[in-house]
Amino acid sequence: MSSYPSINLNNLPQHIAIIMDGNGRWAKGKGKLRVFGHSAGVTPVREASELCAELGVKYLTLYAFSTENWSRPKAEIDALMALLVKTIRKETKTLIENNIRLYAIGDIKSLPLECQEELSEAIEITKHNTRMQLNLALSYGSRWEIVEAIKRAAAAGEDMKNFTAQTLEKYLETAGMPDPELLIRTSGEYRISNFMLWQIAYAEIVILEKLWPDVRKADLIQAIEIYQKRERRFGGVEPVKVVESTK
Ligand code: FPP
Repeated sequence: MSSYPSINLNNLPQHIAIIMDGNGRWAKGKGKLRVFGHSAGVTPVREASELCAELGVKYLTLYAFSTENWSRPKAEIDALMALLVKTIRKETKTLIENNIRLYAIGDIKSLPLECQEELSEAIEITKHNTRMQLNLALSYGSRWEIVEAIKRAAAAGEDMKNFTAQTLEKYLETAGMPDPELLIRTSGEYRISNFMLWQIAYAEIVILEKLWPDVRKADLIQAIEIYQKRERRFGGVEPVKVVESTK
């Protein structure tokens, strides 16, 4: 019996992507600096990873730092990078114990060296883990990713005259991964913010009103429940619906 009886385990998204939004507003609401909100955002990162692993979701992608975030004040960027290093260092053991593979998508080479090193070490140590893959989108922007993929394809000698969607997908940061079926954004904002534009073509979007630091497993369960009630038609007429219920 699942610990989450309201979730139909036969209709789980294989891949959930989350735009973690509202850290700054959360901190401001408490009269604190924005970085305080980012630190508080680590707890829901852990909760989301734990929940997805427990349920059997195979991929979780978290938008942690966008290409546009480089325009933030240097102090905030430095604090975010330091938080990233500290969190990876602290959580790698838990990732290993739980058979979770860490991966990063984005322009990783643009991150501070310490951050790159910490990240590649954790990615290397966890690369054979099979229960779930946790993707951190870092210095990630979808337009960058698509342009980069085209350049990579050309450099690899692909036939650019007969270029197909499948060709492009081989060179995206997410090559080999299923597209997210569920995209969650927090803080009540209805925007995609240059996140996985290609991959979310048919994703169901669920907006949670809570600010990211306040998000807990119950909120993510609610998002999955909403996803499971949606009819997915993929541009067709008939819903592409799921198999038998677990209940
Ligand atoms: C968006 O809130 C959040 C970010 C840009 C950073 C996300 C980072 C974390 C949750 C820290 C921990 C992450 C990992 C992977 C260790 P915002 O700053 O845009 O908030 P606002 O919209 O209220 O200004």
